[in-house]
Amino acid sequence: MAGLKINNVTKHFNDFTALSDVSLDVADGEFVAVLGPSGCGKTTLLRLVAGFEQLDKGEIVIGGKVMSGAGANVPPENRRVGIVFQNYALWPHMTVAENVGYSLKVAKVDRAAREKRVEEALALVNLQGFGERRPANLSGGQRQRVALARCLVAAPSLVLFDEPLANLDVHLRAAMEDEFAAFHKRTGTTIIYITHDQAEAMALADRIAVLDHGRLAQFATPRTLYEEPANEMVASFIAGGMVLPADVLSGARDGSCNVRILGQETVLRCRPDEVARSDAKVCVRADDLDVVESGGIAIRVKRSIYRGGGSRIEAFPVERPDIDLHFDLPDPARLEEGAEARLAIRTGWVIPRAEGAGH
Ligand SMILES: Nc1ncnc2c1ncn2[C@@H]1O[C@H](COP(=O)(O)OP(=O)(O)O)[C@@H](O)[C@H]1O
Ligand SMILES: [Mg+2]
Repeated sequence: MAGLKINNVTKHFNDFTALSDVSLDVADGEFVAVLGPSGCGKTTLLRLVAGFEQLDKGEIVIGGKVMSGAGANVPPENRRVGIVFQNYALWPHMTVAENVGYSLKVAKVDRAAREKRVEEALALVNLQGFGERRPANLSGGQRQRVALARCLVAAPSLVLFDEPLANLDVHLRAAMEDEFAAFHKRTGTTIIYITHDQAEAMALADRIAVLDHGRLAQFATPRTLYEEPANEMVASFIAGGMVLPADVLSGARDGSCNVRILGQETVLRCRPDEVARSDAKVCVRADDLDVVESGGIAIRVKRSIYRGGGSRIEAFPVERPDIDLHFDLPDPARLEEGAEARLAIRTGWVIPRAEGAGH
């Protein structure tokens, strides 16, 4: 097992910048998710780590050894990196055991040692006794576990997953999330797990690196991403955060400050260096909004979506129809389309000023 350091990595495809100055320090045994919308550079980052692409700037260090950059370019087969893709790419004509043991056979590992290691790899993914089956006779989740066993048999120092659950249905995804979490707990393998699904990243990862157009937007624990997003992209990408304009009325004291949002004054969480300013943006979530009888912000309902046990309400401030708000209304309360109501903001987060702007 090994840690991974990605230091100031930049990657161009012709004049398109796919990754720009990305740095990540992943500890030995850590489970890190790389999260971001389609096209933000996730797969490119993984291919650089695996050695399938060459970087233009920066370096990649695995287990203390420079693999890419600074004149080094270690070929993929010498990096001891295992990869599990979305389409598991198992050979249909081979048994499970043959699929898992193939790389060992190519490396001329003798039969007895091979069989032992295949057995161990299958045990690691809870597939003991499945060796003689064909991929066609397995469920999607079992095939994904065979793919994982096939990568583990080579005793990789880290394992990369590229959207491994994207092809599976919702129920199977939940079950596989549990499998991956259990696998990580059991083995302590360093894992880099790519996904565009923030719920999946939150459920699995120790820390999440959010990528935005090839740049690292934030690298933090799921809780910090949720509670203290570093910028507007992270605020809106994680858990449907609403980004609202606000005036900060006082500098930070004990981690919070007075803020005016849509005419309503309230107290929000903020960085310790937050200052009074009129150009702020704040992040609030559905859970932070309460329907109140008086005071608060006057809103009009655009849509009410029944969700079982309550409704998701989409609305806008009467004074600012251009701003979208959403919140949850538990049964038996109802707010139909066109209805007016008042909303109070209970809590939220003042999004920090951009780096370099006013620091
Ligand atoms: N070999 C390539 N040549 C040119 N452009 C590429 C190549 N690989 C990826 N890209 C571009 O780089 C961007 C990031 O791609 P990718 O890393 O696959 O994103 P993600 O995995 O986050 O969806 C995309 O705009 C993609 O079109
Ligand atoms: Mg991808």
